[in-house]
Amino acid sequence: MKNIVLIGFMGTGKTSTGRMLAARLGAAFIDMDQRIEEETGMSIPAMFEKKGESFFRSREKQLVRRLSARRNAVISTGGGTVKDPENVAMLHRDGVIICLSASTDAVLERTVRRGQRPVLDRADQGDRREAIEKLMNEREALYKQADFTVDTSELSPLQVVETILRYL
Ligand code: S3P
Repeated sequence: MKNIVLIGFMGTGKTSTGRMLAARLGAAFIDMDQRIEEETGMSIPAMFEKKGESFFRSREKQLVRRLSARRNAVISTGGGTVKDPENVAMLHRDGVIICLSASTDAVLERTVRRGQRPVLDRADQGDRREAIEKLMNEREALYKQADFTVDTSELSPLQVVETILRYL
């Protein structure tokens, strides 16, 4: 089986969907953010704070390189993995790329806890909706590089998995 790669904005359900999809397919599940945290022994917010975003992005790219050399895995990327075109090319080479999308309201609700998403936490609490909309717009074209997209706003993780399985 080719790798199945989930891309998309923060709070679109990449991790929960990926885990369930992998279980359904009997495939390995790899959550990139979690793997980077394990490998560095640091949480992502701590990494951004102590080492800077560029350190995180370089660990992310190293991991993409390693993962694109394997098969039979469901891979949940981080929301910004697609910012680097080389990452997208590597993930596309032997993988089907699926984008999970969601409305601003859904993302706002699902990322409501601060301290977990450093990219959004830079904005003041009141500006969080604006920060989400701005970043979503900036990244729209990047997420469109997927083979197909599933809007998860109104769906449970199980329904998202069923939708993906119909597409595959
Ligand atoms: C990021 C999204 C996060 C994580 C990091 C940066 C982004 O992943 O990789 O905080 O730039 O969108 P999730 O999409 O899993 O929250």
